[in-house]
Amino acid sequence: MTQCEIPPSLALNSDPTPTGVRPDRGVFISTYGCQMNVNDSERMMSLMEMANFTPVDRPEDASVIIINACSVREKPVQKVYSEVGLYRKLKKENPFLRIGVAGCVGQQEKENLIKNQPLIDFVFGTDNIDELPLIVARLYEEDGPGKAVEARFKHREPYHVETLVRNPGVSTFVNIMKGCDNFCSFCIVPFTRGREKSRPLQHVLTDVRHLVKRGVREVTLLGQNVNSYRDDDMDFADLLAAVATQTDIQRIRYTTSHPKDFNEKLVETMAKHQNKICEYIHLPFQSGNTDVLARMNRGYSREDYLRKIEMIKKGLPDVVLSTDIIVGFPGETEEQFNDTVSLVEEVAFETMFAFKYSPRPFTKAARFEDQVDEDAKQSRLVRLIEAHETQAFEIVKKYEGQVLEVLVDRAEDATGKVSGRSTQNKNVHFLGSSADIGKLVPVRVMKAFPNVLRGERVMS
Ligand code: 5AD
Ligand code: SF4
Repeated sequence: MTQCEIPPSLALNSDPTPTGVRPDRGVFISTYGCQMNVNDSERMMSLMEMANFTPVDRPEDASVIIINACSVREKPVQKVYSEVGLYRKLKKENPFLRIGVAGCVGQQEKENLIKNQPLIDFVFGTDNIDELPLIVARLYEEDGPGKAVEARFKHREPYHVETLVRNPGVSTFVNIMKGCDNFCSFCIVPFTRGREKSRPLQHVLTDVRHLVKRGVREVTLLGQNVNSYRDDDMDFADLLAAVATQTDIQRIRYTTSHPKDFNEKLVETMAKHQNKICEYIHLPFQSGNTDVLARMNRGYSREDYLRKIEMIKKGLPDVVLSTDIIVGFPGETEEQFNDTVSLVEEVAFETMFAFKYSPRPFTKAARFEDQVDEDAKQSRLVRLIEAHETQAFEIVKKYEGQVLEVLVDRAEDATGKVSGRSTQNKNVHFLGSSADIGKLVPVRVMKAFPNVLRGERVMS
């Protein structure tokens, strides 16, 4: 079902109060995880609003609570159960309260969630978001199912997800593809998000044009693996070029890319449209050791990755790089871990996200017998973060004295402070007012820290 096919019983002019639902019809969504989940929660809220529900900020005010949970790392299922446990009292006070679980955890656990925690009323998967209003409506029917589970992948259906965002502000996400076919041996995503599917290029352009009319200045094109994007013979670079030349958006970002698919055409496209495409690339390398990379099934070696970085830096001399790393992958030795540290030092990433390996259900690496013990993982994580921190302070010093173009997205009129992002994705603070929101302001950086740059507006 697409956004246009709101079930008739929930269309705006139909009876707004299904049997049993509290008249205030509040919806509370709790979101864990990546930008994809944040974007999905926004879609859920928009769909519920179209079905006459109202977003609320506190679970106490809700008739429907949804936990949209990520299962990429750590103990996601336990986290969901503990959050649901917190709602036991609310459920006692309000027998009409319905609690649902969504996202990768919903997809992964399906009916197990309801079996193990009877406070949960419904579960829906990553391909079933658009059915949410219908699922909820049925739960409130007198002869309804009582509990509901919808977690089937729609492999054969086209991927049509027009951007649904309530208050897009200055910057927003646009989903361009979903799923992943890479099956890295540590990763649950292919099992929780299904096979790769791309949206038609024209749909993406239409979305961006609508968003521009609503005041959006910057879009982040989203996908688990954006550079696998395909629409007939068009690839991700073609999509970027089309968004840059055929819409009036001022800035384009994207995430996440896979090193093995990062090619020269993409670098050339970014260079050609530098005025719009931000020179910021998030390129996870996961491990700096070729043998570990092979066991991870990443499809590239340390040398391949470094060659790609060289190609990127050559084509985009001012590029800002960020990455994801896993420490303590099964079998990783101290020497192999040291290769990761040396790769971090060699490339000089401005931002690094490092994680301790966590075995995930269904994945190949979870069955490897040489799991690394927790103490070693923890100590490697600390060492890696320390190595990067020392470097990060040095790297950002280059910004001091530079003039950056900042897209203002926040203002505190009481203190006269405003903040926004530079094209390099740096958080920049300076003096201004709410009249600056949505504007691109030139700012000279006076002081640079790894997470924030402080500056002064350059008067023209
Ligand atoms: N354990 C630890 N980190 C993981 N990631 C993905 N799967 C796992 C796992 N099983 C990390 C990778 C990925 C990021 C989104 O999460 O670094 O790039
Ligand atoms: Fe997971 Fe690998 Fe796919 Fe990224 S490319 S989503 S790490 S399987």
